[in-house]
Amino acid sequence: MNAEELKRRAAARALDVVADGMRLGLGTGSTAKHFVELLGERVRAGLRVVCVATSEATQAQAEREGIPMSTLDATPELDLVVDGADELDSRLRLVKGGGGALLREKIVASASRRMIVIADDSKKVETLGRFPLPVEVNPFGLEVTRRQIAAAAAKLGCTGELTLRRRDGQAFVTDGGHYIIDCHFGVLPDPEALAAALVAIPGVVEHGLFIGLATGVVLASAGGVIEMGEV
Ligand code: A5P
Repeated sequence: MNAEELKRRAAARALDVVADGMRLGLGTGSTAKHFVELLGERVRAGLRVVCVATSEATQAQAEREGIPMSTLDATPELDLVVDGADELDSRLRLVKGGGGALLREKIVASASRRMIVIADDSKKVETLGRFPLPVEVNPFGLEVTRRQIAAAAAKLGCTGELTLRRRDGQAFVTDGGHYIIDCHFGVLPDPEALAAALVAIPGVVEHGLFIGLATGVVLASAGGVIEMGEV
């Protein structure tokens, strides 16, 4: 079974949790894309849901699928968000933002009663930090913010290259008009302390550590589906 099949399998399991009338958050990325596709099939078969997207890309996909869409302003309380992750640990702490949607993903997750993460089992790690930590920053004062991130992280034992994310030779710009600095820290000894230090930096808009947000994980492996937390 290849990675795409595993992602689809995880997405299909999460779809079992979706009930008629739910208000759903739709994640971003290649795994969430499978979920949106499968949800579209169910909607066309009569399932009634109202959804909020975590990115312009997901919004466009959901509209193509004919899924009824809303906004967080019109639907500020969600029952469930289903989203992917770049990595996760046994305490359901996540690193997200590989696709650049971390800010909206976190806002949507914070508005939802439950968050189910769907992933293939390659995303499960013993200790967070294998995936470079994305930090979304305001373009103004980029170099100041980069230095402040480096200094704050160093105090917590996190050092490494901080690179401005680029696409097609230009700085990558998020849906919110911000930049992303990918922090190659390696192992994160204290994710909670790092999260607190990052949000205290004025130029940091948000970071990719999702702590205390995921309530369940569906991890698909060649051997079957593993569930963590409450699914
Ligand atoms: C988007 O910004 C990310 O947080 C994604 O949820 C994450 O990168 C997982 O994406 P894949 O499902 O494509 O691995």
